Amino acid sequence: MKVLITGGLGFIGSNFCKYMLANYPDCELINVDKVGIGANPANLHDVENDKRYTFIKGDICNPQLLSRLIHQVDSVVNIAAETHVDRSIADPNVFLQNNTVGTFTILEAIRRHNHKARFLQVSTDEVYGEALEGSFKENDSPKPSNPYSASKAAADMFVLSYHKTFKLNVSITRCTNNFGPYQLPEKLIPKTIIRALRDLPIPIYGTGQNIRDWIYVEDHCSAIAAVLEKGAPGEIYNVSAGNEIPNIEIAKKILGMLHKPESLITFVEDRPGHDTRYSLDSSKTQSTLGWKPKFSFEESLQSTVDWYLKNEHWWTPFANEVILHPTPWKLVGLH
Ligand SMILES: NC(=O)c1ccc[n+]([C@@H]2O[C@H](COP(=O)([O-])OP(=O)(O)OC[C@H]3O[C@@H](n4cnc5c(N)ncnc54)[C@H](O)[C@@H]3O)[C@@H](O)[C@H]2O)c1
Repeated sequence: MKVLITGGLGFIGSNFCKYMLANYPDCELINVDKVGIGANPANLHDVENDKRYTFIKGDICNPQLLSRLIHQVDSVVNIAAETHVDRSIADPNVFLQNNTVGTFTILEAIRRHNHKARFLQVSTDEVYGEALEGSFKENDSPKPSNPYSASKAAADMFVLSYHKTFKLNVSITRCTNNFGPYQLPEKLIPKTIIRALRDLPIPIYGTGQNIRDWIYVEDHCSAIAAVLEKGAPGEIYNVSAGNEIPNIEIAKKILGMLHKPESLITFVEDRPGHDTRYSLDSSKTQSTLGWKPKFSFEESLQSTVDWYLKNEHWWTPFANEVILHPTPWKLVGLH
């Protein structure tokens, strides 16, 4: 299996490259990453010498690069994206370019140059918008609330249209909030860990009651691999582990693990368009592909906290005022 992985230097991408190399001895991976926000070459130092792994610095919006690479693989897993909702409020245009135009550029390369290649789009629960009650299924309509989720939903629409019109072999995964090692500290869990270690106030939007459905990153990786191998063309697969937790509870759990006082929690101005709750029904993925999450929330949160404690050298270089900012959506022109 020869796979082109995009965005493989980021949080999920680097965990996915390691997952594939560890679990699929015959795989060969080409990782294309523009080395943008979220990317860190150190994430994959330990596989750099693996003969099955090649890194190419490049942009998925570059059609010449993609048309050259697409001949060399039999599948593409598109993980590359701009991913921080706050940044998408501060500077939406880069989200449209990288997330929507980038996906379109890959689809065009497949359509023109390697029609048989399988394409897996790594999408997000955020495309459905907020779940005021119940849990979204794959046939629910997207209703994105912010420029990030709109750019991902638009990409999903292109993916499905290329299946229907051009018969490309595509599938989409839509996963809930990930956590685990190598996540850039602008996201809730690592930001809370690092600010707590520095005895800085822990910023919580609004009243802290917004609910996210959490999954350990390795469970997301195993789901992507299962959909790549066994997913049906033209189908969407929800990926979730049933850990719906209000943000304030996440902060309290982390402070408890670090033996820091809850008085560090400070409520800050909520970001515009902040969805109150996300929730996915992943029974289709579990019943049709035999995938299920393996990691318990409490144990993996503890192991994630331990990882950040042991790997200060990894996060210190970019744990600056912008990355750890209490209200990054206010930083217009963040890019
Ligand atoms: N983090 C989550 O909780 C979560 C949940 C569901 C889905 N997702 C999806 O998973 C994917 C990865 O998320 P992440 O949290 O690992 O993000 P990340 O920000 O850690 O990594 C994104 C990577 O994509 C690369 N990239 C961005 N634009 C590119 C381009 N034009 N060309 C080449 N490389 C480019 C970046 O350099 C970076 O290495 C995204 O598509 C995101 O929508 C994330």
